Amino acid sequence: MATRILSVVATVLYLVGSATLVQGQGGFDVLDFINPFIGTDNGGHVHPGATLPFGMVKASADVYGENQGGFSSDNSTIIGFSHMHDSGTGGSPSLGLFPIFPQSGCPDDDLNRCEWAYLDRRVERIYGSAKASPGYFAVTLNTSIQGEVTVTNHTALYRFTFPNDPVPQNGFGSIGNSTIPLSPVLLIDVIDLPRSRSDGNITVDAATGRITGNGTFNPSFGIGNYKAYFCAEFLGAEVRDTGLFKNNRAGTEPKSQRVVADGTNGDNDGDTVLPVGAFVQFNKPDSNNQIFVRVGMSFISTEKACQNAEKEIPSYDFEGVQSSAEDAWRKKLSPVSIDATGVSNSLQTTFWSGLYRTFLSPQDYTGENPLWESDEPYYDSYYCIWDSYRSIHPLLTIMDPLSQTLMVRSLIDIYVHEGWLPDCRMSLCKGFTQGGSNADVVLADSFLKNISDGIDWKLGYEAVVKDAEVEPLNWGVEGRGGLKSWKDKKYIPTDDYDPYGVGPFTRSISRTVEYAYNDFTIALIARALGNIADFEKYLERSTYWKNMYKADQTSFINETNTGFVGFLQPRYLNGTFGFQDPIFCSSLLNFTSCYLNAKGHETYEGSAWLYTFYVPQDMATLITTLGGPQEFTRRLQYLHYTYNLLYIGDEQAFLTVFLGHYSGRPGVSADLAHFYIPAQFNDSIVGIPGNDDSGAMGSFSSFTLLGFFPVAGQDVYLIIAPFFPEVNITSPVTGSVATVRNIGFDPSYRARYIQRARLDGQEYSRNWIGHRFFLEGGLLELELGDAESDWGTRPEDLPPSASTSFGSGGSGGSLKRSADELKVRGGMQGMGAFAS
Ligand SMILES: *[C@@H]1O[C@H](CO)[C@@H](O)[C@H](O)[C@H]1NC(C)=O
Ligand SMILES: *[C@@H]1O[C@H](CO)[C@@H](O)[C@H](O)[C@H]1NC(C)=O
Ligand SMILES: *[C@@H]1O[C@H](CO)[C@@H](O)[C@H](O)[C@H]1NC(C)=O
Ligand SMILES: *[C@@H]1O[C@H](CO)[C@@H](O)[C@H](O)[C@H]1NC(C)=O
Ligand SMILES: *[C@@H]1O[C@H](CO)[C@@H](O)[C@H](O)[C@H]1NC(C)=O
Ligand SMILES: *[C@@H]1O[C@H](CO)[C@@H](O)[C@H](O)[C@H]1NC(C)=O
Ligand SMILES: *[C@@H]1O[C@H](CO)[C@@H](O)[C@H](O)[C@H]1NC(C)=O
Ligand SMILES: *[C@@H]1O[C@H](CO)[C@@H](O)[C@H](O)[C@H]1NC(C)=O
Ligand SMILES: *[C@@H]1O[C@H](CO)[C@@H](O)[C@H](O)[C@H]1NC(C)=O
Ligand SMILES: *[C@@H]1O[C@H](CO)[C@@H](O)[C@H](O)[C@H]1NC(C)=O
Ligand SMILES: *[C@@H]1O[C@H](CO)[C@@H](O)[C@H](O)[C@H]1NC(C)=O
Ligand SMILES: *[C@@H]1O[C@H](CO)[C@@H](O)[C@H](O)[C@H]1NC(C)=O
Repeated sequence: MATRILSVVATVLYLVGSATLVQGQGGFDVLDFINPFIGTDNGGHVHPGATLPFGMVKASADVYGENQGGFSSDNSTIIGFSHMHDSGTGGSPSLGLFPIFPQSGCPDDDLNRCEWAYLDRRVERIYGSAKASPGYFAVTLNTSIQGEVTVTNHTALYRFTFPNDPVPQNGFGSIGNSTIPLSPVLLIDVIDLPRSRSDGNITVDAATGRITGNGTFNPSFGIGNYKAYFCAEFLGAEVRDTGLFKNNRAGTEPKSQRVVADGTNGDNDGDTVLPVGAFVQFNKPDSNNQIFVRVGMSFISTEKACQNAEKEIPSYDFEGVQSSAEDAWRKKLSPVSIDATGVSNSLQTTFWSGLYRTFLSPQDYTGENPLWESDEPYYDSYYCIWDSYRSIHPLLTIMDPLSQTLMVRSLIDIYVHEGWLPDCRMSLCKGFTQGGSNADVVLADSFLKNISDGIDWKLGYEAVVKDAEVEPLNWGVEGRGGLKSWKDKKYIPTDDYDPYGVGPFTRSISRTVEYAYNDFTIALIARALGNIADFEKYLERSTYWKNMYKADQTSFINETNTGFVGFLQPRYLNGTFGFQDPIFCSSLLNFTSCYLNAKGHETYEGSAWLYTFYVPQDMATLITTLGGPQEFTRRLQYLHYTYNLLYIGDEQAFLTVFLGHYSGRPGVSADLAHFYIPAQFNDSIVGIPGNDDSGAMGSFSSFTLLGFFPVAGQDVYLIIAPFFPEVNITSPVTGSVATVRNIGFDPSYRARYIQRARLDGQEYSRNWIGHRFFLEGGLLELELGDAESDWGTRPEDLPPSASTSFGSGGSGGSLKRSADELKVRGGMQGMGAFAS
């Protein structure tokens, strides 16, 4: 019941710092350069709410409109404040469970004249009132109620500040000449953002006002359903009354209700799911017109939700919780230090905000997994690995190897208990697979980069081999489809006959190139384990991409021949090639139709033009196939510089920015990096080109600005000049510092081409570097000039390719040869397999 509330302290605004300071030096605070609103309008779907790194609770206001990430920086109306979200999702909105909605009082003090139902209660925000910084979110509703929130891992702490003179809800109901006394009403709705509730309970305690409840909901991009539990407690005002609401009616008795899906679904207000919830009405708040709400969340029980809240936020100390959250973020970002002399605040904000978003997901649900008993960590919201394997997990591997280790352990534990590694997973459910079994790449990448502590790599290897060998009954949510054809025909036939499992029989081209690369990464693990038979088998399968390559295929744009010949094409069971316009599924032709279930669409969210470049295991062979380095480079530039041919807002495009490294033109990669940043990745509200997909866009800009990009699944980073004079990355495992220093840094970026490089004082001519640099530290000095040079251009300078050089010092030994060496030496053991 009513207790005195705590002090009010000024809210922390998002500020752009005015100085260019090195982290750790006087005055620099990384939080000043993080704007959580980047990507919260125009399709970025970023969640800007309060969260800890990988936190399960992510709290913000939710809008009625573009609400995949809960909140949007547009002028849509607000329907409540909720406690869990996913950031950057492409499809349906995710989570947003059990929203709270505040009202200052009811017209004429009549409960039934307050607004209850979802569509009735939504209210505008005061334009420009939204504020966010790491660990904090706030917005003021047009009813002059300010909602603020900060969080711990499983608990949100809200502070609602009510106006002295209640303002009526605007626009969605007339109150005539009624008066509204200040007697705040806080309701909690048993609903989620996708409006998927099928079963739920809610109870309010008459004495304390505590509201507990649970519900059954659907995941946003997957199958099955899940149960979630909450526990909301209040502080700051005396409880006046409690009760329930259903539809647009409320009453003070009874105090508990259950609702099940009734088959008719909805109310007479056009809502799709019956509005159901509970409320507490308060007397005028004790102090500052403020009421605090502490909401604990759990997937185990309402009791556990209450325990989480009590344990994590015992004293409702808003500033204390916020300040702990801020410290957690400073610590998480501390492995990176940049000298930003001469670099705009805008670019610094782009950098740090992108890095921040990389640490939002997967979410740590350890201790909250009701599905199986295990001592292993449990992470969720792998949303989705098709998006995150390319640069999110490689970034975590460098900057937060401990979390990456826990994530790998959790992936392996999911394999143990569900039978398969996930490709996408959210809200305790299996998510849809977009292409290959790309958890294979995540595991291989980690394996090659000494992610090892407590990981059972024998089990990890078993899991990736199962992806390659066993077709699941439903390969729409795990593993791969068409494995019999894959092994026998050596490609995924466009008209595959597959009596072994079900899944969307589409995407035969993109699945083929992804399966080939998945198999390659399995081969790399096999090699490091000394398993020569598997190594040879999967290395062979990694060449199958060639079987969908049609050497005489041409491509037209605007009915004009582009002049490029040879593209991946559909191929039938009988061996005959079909036809899919190579620009189909690009923004030039039917881009938005190329999702999972579109019949006759053989590439996923991208064109054959794009997928023809996806052979990271053997770029040397691809380059020869496409006509040699010069012609390859010309095609690569055409891909990027032809309007609408490539969409950089989808993750398959990332690696193509750096492929010039493989044709001996690292300067072309530098050109492309500057072509896209800041033009497509910047610090505006619309500053990312596509859905962030749990931070994927952020991880791309972070890596690119730091001056290296990972070839996920290999121990290879492609080098360009950082966009800053100097960057330091401190290994959280070894404490060693990897420094990349530009010599002759030019803030106008005309001098963006590396002329010479030295690693620890020694001439360094390779255009790539291995993970050892980050583990052991070192100094990489890059001399810059304003024209391309011959640095990194000779065959021996290029990144490894399976057919030419791989893991043997880049000196021409093929993978086949290294297999023979393995036979002689009896296999490399464990982790000794760093490539550089
Ligand atoms: C929101 O409304 C304000 C005026 O109230 C207007 O200035 C602003 O441009 C609008 N913003 C958007 C994104 O529509
Ligand atoms: C807010 O309410 C006022 C009236 O109280 C109204 O004039 C205004 O249009 C509303 N909307 C916004 C976005 O401020
Ligand atoms: C939150 O969870 C992380 C692990 O995901 C843990 O390291 C951290 O200590 C937790 N924070 C608190 C305050 O318990
Ligand atoms: C409000 O009161 C005024 C004056 O008392 C009256 O003229 C008006 O009709 C009333 N409006 C409504 C909607 O009742
Ligand atoms: C709601 O409560 C009933 C009765 O206790 C229970 O059977 C049901 O599973 C509960 N629903 C949820 C989502 O927990
Ligand atoms: C679900 O909620 C109901 C009513 O609030 C409660 O009785 C029940 O224990 C809850 N279930 C769990 C597993 O917490
Ligand atoms: C990087 O670390 C070195 C010492 O290891 C230090 O001299 C230098 O100032 C640091 N640079 C940045 C950008 O933090
Ligand atoms: C590899 O990881 C282990 C476990 O985290 C650590 O003890 C060791 O120092 C790491 N090795 C290198 C070379 O960084
Ligand atoms: C195709 O035509 C459109 C419209 O005329 C033009 O804007 C575009 O540049 C053309 N593209 C190419 C590659 O010729
Ligand atoms: C192969 O199969 C395709 C698709 O069914 C068909 O269109 C084509 O005519 C067949 N080719 C031959 C040579 O039978
Ligand atoms: C391509 O898009 C056009 C226009 O939206 C549509 O009419 C056509 O059916 C689409 N074609 C395919 C194969 O999806
Ligand atoms: C920022 O990025 C967005 C999204 O890619 C783009 O539309 C916009 O033009 C960019 N803004 C600037 C100033 O470059």
